[in-house]
Amino acid sequence: MVLLFDFINRQFLTEPPIPTTSYKGRTVIVTGANVGLGKEAVRWCLKLGASKVIIACRTTSKGSLAATEIQNDTGCSPDMLEVWKLNMSSYAAVREFAERAKGLERLDAVIANAGMSTLKFNTTEDNEETITTNVISTALLCFALHPKLVETAKQYNINTHITITASELYEVASFKERKAPEGKIFETLRDKKKAKMRDRYNVSKLLQVFLVRQMAALSPVSASHVIVNCVAPGMCHTELHRNIATGKWVDVLMKILARTSEVGSRTLVYGGSAGPETHGKYLPDCKITEPAGLCRGLPGKELQERVWAELRAKLEKIQPGVTSIA
Ligand SMILES: NC(=O)c1ccc[n+]([C@@H]2O[C@H](COP(=O)([O-])OP(=O)(O)OC[C@H]3O[C@@H](n4cnc5c(N)ncnc54)[C@H](OP(=O)(O)O)[C@@H]3O)[C@@H](O)[C@H]2O)c1
Repeated sequence: MVLLFDFINRQFLTEPPIPTTSYKGRTVIVTGANVGLGKEAVRWCLKLGASKVIIACRTTSKGSLAATEIQNDTGCSPDMLEVWKLNMSSYAAVREFAERAKGLERLDAVIANAGMSTLKFNTTEDNEETITTNVISTALLCFALHPKLVETAKQYNINTHITITASELYEVASFKERKAPEGKIFETLRDKKKAKMRDRYNVSKLLQVFLVRQMAALSPVSASHVIVNCVAPGMCHTELHRNIATGKWVDVLMKILARTSEVGSRTLVYGGSAGPETHGKYLPDCKITEPAGLCRGLPGKELQERVWAELRAKLEKIQPGVTSIA
């Protein structure tokens, strides 16, 4: 009930503030930037002075369309926008993307925004698709790009950023798979017969909050100068539910309550330029907020450690050494 009240209050009565922190001279990667929140975040980064924004997307023709639209709207010069292919359904593609990013002159912020929601059980790589896209590939990308962010931070004597677009729905994840025997959480998540697909997106967002807390603990800002945080944009009009038949009442609710993707995108841009106090934090509507639900207290810490032990093993299998960040 409190959750519902908070939600309606947030959607109706509050709005994330207009971003004002300068992105002057910065190079930013925004994943899933051909539509929705990612596309609007690209617009904001340019308005705030970024020198280069990379639209990372799986279909480059869609990315080019978005780039043309943004160029027409903002009047930015074509060389300020690049479209790079990034398919999060393939670990090899994620690794290839991160390898390419090593060649950038600088990398100031990664807004790891690409994500999906579905009720259908499909498999990509060695997991159900939502887990591969929202969790494993997102983690792989963030870890693989971390050294480049450290390099830029040291070179320019600044803090650089990794911001993951999480969601307030992490809080309602029931995550029954956590009751799996030791070391078998991800194995259980890929079991089609046991899959609770109505809970799957929420679980993926919970695992993102764990990931951010874990990366922050592994690499303090004082050493790396890379700030890692996650944001929650509220319910927004985007294409996220394109694969889900929502029904008349949800459609009506969306019409009344959902924010525009521009309004939601302000939270991403805030996360990508926020101060060191946001390291490892969850930032709904640009405010540091103590995570709730299954993240809470000692049980939350223990669950995070169990998830991390498995996630780390998976990432190390994909790319040995990738999680050794400092
Ligand atoms: N909309 C909301 O109410 C809301 C609320 C909280 C959090 N979020 C989060 O916000 C983020 C952005 O979503 P959105 O709402 O803007 O939805 P969206 O309009 O559907 O955008 C999602 C983006 O992610 C990309 N993507 C999905 N799967 C991918 C894959 N395997 N490889 C590469 N790119 C992939 C999509 O590419 P294609 O266009 O090629 O599919 C698209 O660019 C997501 O992480 C979502 O969970 C959204």
